[in-house]
Amino acid sequence: MNILITGCAGFIGFHLIKNIDSKKINIFGVDNLNNYYSPRLKNLRLSILKKKNNFKFYKLDISDYNKLDKLFLKLKIDVVINLAAQAGVRYSLINPKDYIETNMLGFFNVLDLSKKYKIKKLIYASSSSVYGDKKHYPVREDEIINPKNIYSLSKKNNEELAEIYYEQYGFSSIGLRFFTVYGEWGRPDMLMIKYMLSKLTKKKFILNNKGNHYRDFTYIDDVTFVLKNLIFKKIKGNKILNVCSNKPIKVSKILNILNKLYGKPKIQYKNKLKIEVLKTHGSNSKIKKITNLKKFTDLDKGIFNLVNWAKKYLHKI
Ligand SMILES: NC(=O)c1ccc[n+]([C@@H]2O[C@H](COP(=O)([O-])OP(=O)(O)OC[C@H]3O[C@@H](n4cnc5c(N)ncnc54)[C@H](O)[C@@H]3O)[C@@H](O)[C@H]2O)c1
Repeated sequence: MNILITGCAGFIGFHLIKNIDSKKINIFGVDNLNNYYSPRLKNLRLSILKKKNNFKFYKLDISDYNKLDKLFLKLKIDVVINLAAQAGVRYSLINPKDYIETNMLGFFNVLDLSKKYKIKKLIYASSSSVYGDKKHYPVREDEIINPKNIYSLSKKNNEELAEIYYEQYGFSSIGLRFFTVYGEWGRPDMLMIKYMLSKLTKKKFILNNKGNHYRDFTYIDDVTFVLKNLIFKKIKGNKILNVCSNKPIKVSKILNILNKLYGKPKIQYKNKLKIEVLKTHGSNSKIKKITNLKKFTDLDKGIFNLVNWAKKYLHKI
C-alpha cells in the first residue's frame, strides 16, 4: 500500500509516520519545511523518519497544483493523509494569507487530485476551533459550527469542500477535528512546550486571561492510534469526527503541573483574545466506537512523558 502524508515534518505527521511499522506500507512524505516555527525541529523530526526504509521525503508546497499533480501521477497512491497546514489561531491575525494559500488552496489541490487519481481514502485534519464558543458541552459532531478566526474558517472551508466533493462526485473522505494535541516533539507555538521553552530561555511567558480557559488536551499517541486505525477501516461517505479526550482542563492547572515538573518561567499577564474560544470540550463517543479505542491517555501520564522528553531535547530545538 502506498500512502502520501502531507505535513510529514510536522508534529502529528512525524508521530504517525514513526509509528507505521508495516513493511507492506510505502510512505511518501510531503512538507515545505516553512519557518513558522523552528525549522531545526522539523529537520530533527525528518532525520529520524529518514532512517526508516519505507519512507521517502519530497520537499514540496501543496499550494502548487502542477507539482503535486506530477507527484500523484508518479507515486500511484492508495491513501492520502493531509496534515499540512498553516496552524495556529493567534498567527492568523498576523498573516492571514498563509491560511488562504495552504489551508484553502492547498487543501483544494489535495482533494481535487485525490479525486482525479481515484484515491481510495482521503483523511484530513480539521480542528476543534471550527465550533467557536458554545453554550453546551461536550460538543458533538452535528453541532452548528461557528469559526471565530481565519484559521478556523479555513478548516470549515475544508469540511464544506469535502462535503461538496462527496455530493457532486461521490468522493469519500474523513475530516478529523483534533482538539489541542500535546506530547513529545510537539509544536513550540503551543502552550506546554512554549511554557517550558520560556523557562529554558529565560523569556517571559505571555499568559492570556490568567489561564482561565479550558482545553480538551489530547495526547499524541491517541491521535496516532486513531489515524493508523482509520487507514485500514472501510468507511464510505463523508465523515467528520472529533478526536479528543473529553476531559477539559483549565490552562492554569496545566501550568501548575509544569511548574512542579519542569520549573516556572516569568509570566506577563494579558487580556483574553477575542479570536480565542473560552473552552473546548468534545464528545469522543463516535471516534471511540469507530476505532475501538477504549480509553484516552490520562493527562498525568502524557505530561510526564512530555516533560521527560523536554528535559532531554528542548535545548536542541
Ligand atoms: N496540534 C494540534 O493541536 C492541532 C489541533 C487541531 C488541528 N490540527 C491540525 O492538524 C494538522 C497537523 O498539525 P500539527 O500540529 O502537526 O502542525 P505542524 O505545524 O507541526 O505541521 C504542519 C506541517 O505542514 C507543513 N506545511 C505548512 N504549509 C505547507 C505547505 N503549503 N505545503 C507543504 N507543507 C506545508 C509545515 O512545514 C509543518 O511541518 C494541521 O492541519 C493542523 O491545523 C492540529
